[in-house]
Amino acid sequence: MQPNYLSQPQAYQTWRAFKLSNYPKEVGLLIVNINNPIKILDEECNLLLKICAKTNIVIYRTNNDQTDVKRSISALTQQLGLKELDANICADEDRISTIQDLGSDRASYIPYTNKPLNWHTDGYYNGDTQRIRAFLMHCVRPAESGGENAYLDPEIAYILLRDENPNYIDALMDASVMTIPANEQAGRQIRAAQTGPVFFVDEESQSISMRYTARKRSIIWKNDKTVEHALAFLHEILQGNPYLFRYRLSAGEGVISNNVLHNRSAITDSSSADEKRLLYRARFYNRVKKCDEEQDLQDVVNQ
Ligand SMILES: [Fe+2]
Repeated sequence: MQPNYLSQPQAYQTWRAFKLSNYPKEVGLLIVNINNPIKILDEECNLLLKICAKTNIVIYRTNNDQTDVKRSISALTQQLGLKELDANICADEDRISTIQDLGSDRASYIPYTNKPLNWHTDGYYNGDTQRIRAFLMHCVRPAESGGENAYLDPEIAYILLRDENPNYIDALMDASVMTIPANEQAGRQIRAAQTGPVFFVDEESQSISMRYTARKRSIIWKNDKTVEHALAFLHEILQGNPYLFRYRLSAGEGVISNNVLHNRSAITDSSSADEKRLLYRARFYNRVKKCDEEQDLQDVVNQ
């Protein structure tokens, strides 16, 4: 069951206009300077929440104090309402993952290599009870070159697809459209197969969310012409559109998002182990808390 703002044409047009009005087109407009992530100032917090309410993504910049980065990450995310940390199989004990090139022979998953990462949302292979609704990536040390990310807000992807052909939305909201086969390693099942939609409305927040991967292997798409065309159009807009953000995190910077679509370019690392790119990543089952601007949106749509 879709909320009014999607199912009723007038409400949808109102929401769409509100969403696109003053949408930031420069990645620099997403950046917020933070003096102390352990205790952020009210104005810093408000700005972080306001930007995230608009675009589902915000970039923060700290003074790169490296004394206890993980503690800073925990404190910062808690102040933004992110509490339910995911514990994936590659996360450290504190549920924060250390993302670094482990070499192709040691790494089972591409994030832990220097290869490029295709477009995806985090946890697209997870079931509903472990749905990733937000993530943080914090850069301790950038690569010598590469490691740039591109980001696209799922609500913008929805609008662009619906503008092109509303049938594309129906096709990608179909509950059987995308299946990720079970993850089996050495004859043992680590995760069961997952079937579900690409676009869905998150019950808690009533926000358009996505599960998606552009990978070609280990994914089964529903055999349907409209699905095929919708995916081709999605692929096209991911190659470039006015709402796409590209950014390469510097040391002390991080990104917080309501699990927007993202990719990563290939990485060229230093040959010295202690100069290799180092990122921390935290994933959450809940979203960044709402700010007043989201209430304004609700008021507009409910009028
Ligand atoms: Fe990711």
